[in-house]
Amino acid sequence: MPKFVKMAVREELPVGASKEVEFEGRVYALFNVDGQNAAIDGTCPHQGGPLADGPLEGCMVACPWHGWEFDVHTGKTPLGPKIKIDVFEVKVEGEDVLVLVP
Ligand code: FES
Repeated sequence: MPKFVKMAVREELPVGASKEVEFEGRVYALFNVDGQNAAIDGTCPHQGGPLADGPLEGCMVACPWHGWEFDVHTGKTPLGPKIKIDVFEVKVEGEDVLVLVP
């Protein structure tokens, strides 16, 4: 059953920052895009690169290994509709950043 899990505190995610979090065997990548938090699958579907370590430009993150790009709000990529990553709902409660995990 989906549940919100605390994955960061707000000061860890200033505008333009990212954070990788492992929870129950899955890797999540959290971002702050212009004050709006986002969370996606942290493992690149190409060859497993760490998406939280990639450069963020606007709402697009580029995988640090081979440069595949993903929109952190939608999980979509300019590479086409066959490739997509999971996106997770994020909410802020006080100082806590919570992610809705499946
Ligand atoms: S592992 Fe991400 S682009 Fe290759």
